[in-house]
Amino acid sequence: MRLAIIGCGAIGSVLVEAICGGSVKAELVALMDIYPERCENLARSFCREFTNTAICRDLECLLNAKPQLVVEAASQQAVKEYIPTILSHGISVVVLSVGALLDENILKAVKEASRAGKARVYIPSGAIAGLDAVKALANAGIDRVVLKTYKNVKAFDPETLRRLGFGEVRERTKIFEGRGDIAVKLFPANVNVVAALALASGQIPWVEVYADPNLQRNIHEIVVEGKASTISIRVENVPHPRNPRTSYLAALSAIQLLKELTEEGSIAVGT
Ligand SMILES: NC(=O)c1ccc[n+]([C@@H]2O[C@H](COP(=O)([O-])OP(=O)(O)OC[C@H]3O[C@@H](n4cnc5c(N)ncnc54)[C@H](O)[C@@H]3O)[C@@H](O)[C@H]2O)c1
Repeated sequence: MRLAIIGCGAIGSVLVEAICGGSVKAELVALMDIYPERCENLARSFCREFTNTAICRDLECLLNAKPQLVVEAASQQAVKEYIPTILSHGISVVVLSVGALLDENILKAVKEASRAGKARVYIPSGAIAGLDAVKALANAGIDRVVLKTYKNVKAFDPETLRRLGFGEVRERTKIFEGRGDIAVKLFPANVNVVAALALASGQIPWVEVYADPNLQRNIHEIVVEGKASTISIRVENVPHPRNPRTSYLAALSAIQLLKELTEEGSIAVGT
């Protein structure tokens, strides 16, 4: 499969290494970034065999490389700017910056372009687990989705903490409780988890956020109550060994999705 990636940052680098290292069986036809030198560096570090990879700054260059699948690992702005156009060219996409789809206008544009181009939008489970069961449960009705996130206090913007009245946090402290759409405005780092849960369940999650000065991992606890089951999910994410800004699991989740989309004759496990 001919594959292109938008975003040569933390996640992009993990994906390029997996593709050029051979664990994802795909031909990397283009890399794109507003800082194309980042893509050049990745190609040079990991892709000695892929001398034909186009290094792009704009979408025209990427489309000229004729990818069959494009991975977005850049930003919400990139989803808004490029994804509808890519879909309308009949090219399927994998979207990492899923938080963009909490915006109804962007979601509508993406859905319409997907229909028009007969192309699919894939959203990996990212930093959480259990979206398969949440989607299944939604068929019988979901009453409530609750997300509790625990992070080291250093993971939060100090100005936001001060504004919320938590200038000094000495022990585990609940710094927010409320609707997910408000939570993501205050804590943009949570936006992808909230959006993925909202898309899978059809409900805006209720969110609690905790700051903890002693925590080394990012912990998400999710409870989904529905007619058929109550599902409890807990993930403790460690940062990627080389890219501390990204949960290792989020990058691994994208790699797994790419493997499933590119391998022929594979068995698909999980819904
Ligand atoms: N779904 C999940 O669970 C999950 C987990 C972690 C990160 N993410 C999201 O994935 C995205 C990438 O994460 P990352 O840690 O690799 O970020 P990063 O900041 O390390 O890398 C992003 C790269 O994309 C480039 N970029 C940004 N906007 C662009 C645009 N409009 N056009 C072209 N290039 C652009 C940047 O220059 C940068 O090189 C982010 O939006 C992040 O929120 C999702």
